[in-house]
Amino acid sequence: MKKRPIIEPFRIKVVEPIRMTRAPERRRILEAARYNLFGVHADDVIVDLLTDSGTGAMSAEQWAGMIRGDESYAGAPSFYRFDAVVRELTGMSFIFPTHQGRAAERIFCDVLPLRDKVVLSNGLFDTTRANIEAAGASGFDLPREDALGGTQAFGGDIDLAKLDRALEEHGDRVALVVMTVTNNTVGGQAVSLANLRAVAERVRSITPAKRPILLLDACRFAENAFRIASDEPAERGRPLAEIARAMFDLADVFTMSAKKDAIVNTGGILGVRDQALADAIRVDLIRTEGFPTYGGLAGRDLEAIAQGLREVLDPSYLEYRFAASRYLASALQAAGWPVITPAAAHAVYIDAGAALPHLAPADLPGQSVACALYLAGGIRTCEIGTLMFGAAAEGKRQLVRLAIPRRVYTQSHIDYVAAVGAEIAEVRAKLPGMRILEEPRCLRHFTAAMAPLSPFPDFE
Ligand SMILES: Cc1ncc(COP(=O)(O)O)c(C=O)c1O
Repeated sequence: MKKRPIIEPFRIKVVEPIRMTRAPERRRILEAARYNLFGVHADDVIVDLLTDSGTGAMSAEQWAGMIRGDESYAGAPSFYRFDAVVRELTGMSFIFPTHQGRAAERIFCDVLPLRDKVVLSNGLFDTTRANIEAAGASGFDLPREDALGGTQAFGGDIDLAKLDRALEEHGDRVALVVMTVTNNTVGGQAVSLANLRAVAERVRSITPAKRPILLLDACRFAENAFRIASDEPAERGRPLAEIARAMFDLADVFTMSAKKDAIVNTGGILGVRDQALADAIRVDLIRTEGFPTYGGLAGRDLEAIAQGLREVLDPSYLEYRFAASRYLASALQAAGWPVITPAAAHAVYIDAGAALPHLAPADLPGQSVACALYLAGGIRTCEIGTLMFGAAAEGKRQLVRLAIPRRVYTQSHIDYVAAVGAEIAEVRAKLPGMRILEEPRCLRHFTAAMAPLSPFPDFE
């Protein structure tokens, strides 16, 4: 019997029109944006794969929660509903809402004595690293050597041998161990529960006075839990909520950008077990975000987060989400693009450096592919390579990330992206290198002005 397709497990009640553009118009738009896709207006984009953060579609129940949202300054029932859901999911004792994930990170880094300390991680997200460094500590990523090899299921794991060496070397200077699930810095690869357990065991074997705090950066916890349930033999088939809880149970603290797996447009969460830490966080939260029963958010946002966290562990939702990214990854591979595998749920990554061997990393091959996707099909993506990281990208892959917003695009949108990708693959040897004309002091990829070294091929 023919295998049935995995369908989007939702119907569409509200639609947003997409303005269709043609290649000559897009060429003018891209030139005006100085070849920086962050400078393109969103209504000039046909399929927007710039990020999966804050771009998801909320459900009818989430919108209903938005109406129910109570905006009392203190003690809003919306907070207590949010608090109950997050506590049940994570088992943490003290839950603080913040306006984004990075605010949770900043507050946590503010209340810890981090000066001259060391933070070890499977991969620090860039805002996490920036907050750690701003607090005077140094962050070290210890990913597996074969993280992007595509040969094993849990490329997001921390390298335990490297962790042992780093714990030995830095001793009681290690203040924090951060496990990011999924591991964004290695293409969103998942972290196994066995690896999280091994990290927790190592941390707990250190005498309490010198023991680092184990922090879970949990913004894609549900996507990680699904991979554990599918691919970790000892956990196969276990209920997703149980796996998620097992992940949180190993941590002392979590930070979460709710813009990902809570499927809302803004929000963050900080959760801790320790009373003294909670007391310090409360003071900082009030000073910088808001009263603890709303943090940096409106009551309606808290309702939407609570409902999103209930919905995200639905196995049919996660099955569809992984099916979409796997489908796009294999269509791009079939068209000849080297793609990072296994495909993460939140994004598919093209290895532009490998695909365009005529371009050196300094020629920004990832940005060239990203511009070609826009010129050919109005598809917006994001370079993750030399443009984003500058000299720090040396020796690393030149990637283009096609992030997939949650519950926004259908199979035919993904087919469209694959078809445009296939058209570009045919002319990829003709894609030009790019030069940076102007750049700011830091985070240059957001605002740098660029130009191609020779014209892009004509599309359409
Ligand atoms: C792994 C990870 N941690 C933290 C953050 C920061 O969250 P926010 O964008 O809500 O500040 C992100 C955002 O992309 C992320 O992917």
